[in-house]
Amino acid sequence: MGHIKNWRSLSGQRMAVGLIVVLIMTFAIGVDSLVSAENPNTLIINADQGTETISRHIYGHFSEHLGHCIYGGYWVGEDSPIPNVRGIRTDVVEALKKINIPNLRWPGGCFADEYHWRDGIGPRSERPKMINTHWGGVTEDNSFGTHEFMDLCEQLGTEPYICGNVGSGTVEEMSKWVEYLNFDGISPMAEERRKNGQEKAWGVKYWGVGNENWGCGGNMTPEFYADQYRRYATYCRNYGDSRLLKIAGGPSDEDYNWTEVLMKKIGPRGMWGMSMHYYTTNWSNKGSATVFDERAYFDVLARCFKIPKAIDKHMNIMDKYDPEKRVALVIDEWGTWFDVEPGTNPGFLFQQNTIRDALVAGIHLNEFNKRCERVRMANIAQTINVLQALIFTEDEKMILTPTYHVFEMYKVHHDATLLPADLRCVDYTLDDDKLPALNVSASKDKEGKIHISLCNLDPNKSAKLDCELRGTKVKKVSGRVLTASAINAHNTFEKPDVVKPAEFKDVKLSGSTLTMTLPAKSVVVLEVE
Ligand code: AHR
Repeated sequence: MGHIKNWRSLSGQRMAVGLIVVLIMTFAIGVDSLVSAENPNTLIINADQGTETISRHIYGHFSEHLGHCIYGGYWVGEDSPIPNVRGIRTDVVEALKKINIPNLRWPGGCFADEYHWRDGIGPRSERPKMINTHWGGVTEDNSFGTHEFMDLCEQLGTEPYICGNVGSGTVEEMSKWVEYLNFDGISPMAEERRKNGQEKAWGVKYWGVGNENWGCGGNMTPEFYADQYRRYATYCRNYGDSRLLKIAGGPSDEDYNWTEVLMKKIGPRGMWGMSMHYYTTNWSNKGSATVFDERAYFDVLARCFKIPKAIDKHMNIMDKYDPEKRVALVIDEWGTWFDVEPGTNPGFLFQQNTIRDALVAGIHLNEFNKRCERVRMANIAQTINVLQALIFTEDEKMILTPTYHVFEMYKVHHDATLLPADLRCVDYTLDDDKLPALNVSASKDKEGKIHISLCNLDPNKSAKLDCELRGTKVKKVSGRVLTASAINAHNTFEKPDVVKPAEFKDVKLSGSTLTMTLPAKSVVVLEVE
C-alpha cells in the first residue's frame, strides 16, 4: 500500500503544483487583462540592451538649385542688405547650426545631372549662365557654385555630400571635380582651385554617383546604370587621406528590381551606400499643404507607413548580397510633396508646413532610427522654401516650420545607441481604416541619458501611455511637446510661433515606470536620467 500512498502523495503534490501554476497563470492573465483594460497603451524599453548606433547622418538635409532653396534661401550675395557672411545668410546659418545639421546634399536632385561644375567656379561675373530646365525654366547664373557651397558647409559645420553628373556629364568631368576638391599636391585641378582662392583641399567624402538615373538622371535601365556607376566610380579617386564614400543612385519607392540589379552588379565592395527615394505623396492627387480635412490628414499619415515596409523589402534584398551589411541604405530624398501654394511658380515646389508635416517627420525619423543597422544616412527634401522645408525666407524675414522643430527636438538621437522598444497601442481609426495611434523610438546617448521620441497620430484623442524602463534606475524625467489646436496649424511670417515646442509636463515617474498623457496630434521627446 505504501506505493499507493506514495502515488497519492505524489499525485497530491502534482495537483498542488498544477493548481499553483494555474493560479499564477490566471493571476498573470488577470493582471495583463487588467492592465490592458485599464490602459491599452504600453511601452517597454530595455535600457541595457542596445547594440546599434543611430548615425547622426540620418538627420541630413538636401538642398537643390530649385525655386528659392539656394537663391534667397541660403544665398543673397555679398552686396545684399540682408545680413550675410560672404553672401550666405546669417539667420539661416544660425538656425541650422542649432539643429546640428550633419550633412548637406547638393546640387540636386534632377539639377545634378544637368549641372556642369566648371560653370560655377572662378569670378562670378564671368560664370556662364544656364537654363534650369527641370525647375521653372529659369536662368541659373551659377553665382552659387563649388566654393560657395563649401563655404556654406564650413559655416554650418556640416559634411558636404556632393552629387555628381552621370546623366549628361562625363567621367572626366566628375573625376576632375573630385580632384579639384580633394587633391592637395601639384595638378591642374589643384592649381585652378588655388587660383580661385582655396589653398587647401577640402577632402569631400560623400559622393553621389548620379541621381534618379532611372528617371531625370538619364532614364537608364538598372543594368546600364550599374555599368555606368562602375565606370564613373573607378575614376573618382582617393587623394591623400580622404577615402571617398561613394553612393550609387538607388531605387525609388518599391522598385525592388533596381536594388537587386545594383546589388548583384556593383556588389558590396563597389559602393559605400545605395540611395533610395520615397516621397510621402499621392502622385495623382497631391492635395493642399494647408487646406485639408481629416481624411486627407489620415491618408498622408497612412502613407508614412509604406516607407518602412519598402525599406524592409529593399534591405532584405541587400542582405542577400551583403549579409555583413557593408552597404548603407541612404534615403537621400524623403518628405511630403503637396500642391504648390496658390499663386507661386509651379516649378518652384513651394508648400506650407503644418503639424501634419511635423508628424510625418517624427514618424519617418523614428522608423529610420529603428533601422539604423542599414539606414546610415537620410536627407529630407528640401531644407529651405522647397517641399517639406525646415525654414521659410521672404526677403529679410525668416521663420521656422513645425518640421524644423521636430529635427531640433530629435537631435538628441544623433550618434546615440538605439534601444529596443516594445510598443502596444490602440488604433487611430477613421471610417473603416485604422493606423497604430502611437509611434516611437528610443536611444541612449554617450552620457547615459535616455531619449524617447513619441508621436500621437490621433488628431482627436489624447493617449495615456505607461512606459516601463527595464535595466536601469530612473531618477528624473523631463520632456518637450510639439502640438497644435488644428490639424492644419502652421507658422506664417505674420504669426511665426503658432506651432512651436513647449515644456511637456504631463509625465509622472513611479519607480521605473513613466505614466504620461500624449496630447492629440503631438510629437513628444522625453529625456530620462
Ligand atoms: O526634390 C525634388 C526632386 O524630386 C529632385 O530633384 C528629384 O531627385 C526628385 O524627383
